[in-house]
Amino acid sequence: MPKTPVIIDCDPGHDDAMALMLALASPELEVVAVTTVAGNQTLDKVTANAIRVLDVVGADAVPVAAGADRPLVHRAAVAADVHGETGLDGPDLPPPSRDPEPIHAVELMARELRKRPLTLIPVGPLTNIALLIAMYPDLVENIEDIVVMGGAIGLGNVTPSAEFNIWCDPEAAKRVFESEADVTMIGLDVTHQAMLSAARADALRDKGRAGAVVADLHAFYRRFHLEVYGHDDTPVHDALAVAHVIDPKILNTTQLNVELDVTQGPCRGRTVVDQLRRTDRPANAHVAVGVDADRFIDLLTERIGSLA
Ligand code: RIB
Ligand code: CA
Repeated sequence: MPKTPVIIDCDPGHDDAMALMLALASPELEVVAVTTVAGNQTLDKVTANAIRVLDVVGADAVPVAAGADRPLVHRAAVAADVHGETGLDGPDLPPPSRDPEPIHAVELMARELRKRPLTLIPVGPLTNIALLIAMYPDLVENIEDIVVMGGAIGLGNVTPSAEFNIWCDPEAAKRVFESEADVTMIGLDVTHQAMLSAARADALRDKGRAGAVVADLHAFYRRFHLEVYGHDDTPVHDALAVAHVIDPKILNTTQLNVELDVTQGPCRGRTVVDQLRRTDRPANAHVAVGVDADRFIDLLTERIGSLA
């Protein structure tokens, strides 16, 4: 079975870290590169975190390039309340073993897209993806799919209306969803239906270094969810986007129109999903509407447990 070549654009971030480990543990994927974008924390912190995660699994050959250090138009806040001051609070990880590549994330994505078609898996704000589309429209045809962790048909998580990744840079998201590229939207509606329990996370503690790191990540990450949602099972938002590329049976998607609210009002950053097809706006995304939670969590824990 040929591997699917992917670039993961991320803002590690606890669930980003688990998504990276899942991708690197999965023979179905070729992780061509990892790119970073300001979101959960500042660009320098999320870039260092991405390299630290690759160091945990010995992925020294995977290039990491830093991208946008702020949203396209309006600045956004980091999510220190969720991911801590480092962006990866919890595990005691050594400093990154290397520097990022000396090129911008968008240039690295463009360089790799010129070589062959790629699936892009953005799991942070969409700033880099929007810049790529704006700067290199001729390369859009080489993008197999943009599998976005972001948005929600229903409630938001950073405001009542908006999911964090989209809220950080709604203008970038609008640019992506209006592009000619195939877009798959994996939102909170499904990520919150496929939780990683404290028990399943803790059971990874004796499953190698990566398993132990994930157990420590989850121990920190769940305290936010306990406070806000009243339980210590947590969504692993970003890993579900990666899992979808590995095993398309995990999610059910349907083609719908997604409109982005880029106003400065209370719904800024909302993904307005026309689920009942009440408008004549054409479908522009495959929107995840159902998830096989057990299939996802079994894949996630089995693959992470298989890492050294
Ligand atoms: O809303 C969840 C998303 O925001 C995830 O990607 C998480 O890492 C944060 O970036
Ligand atoms: Ca993220």
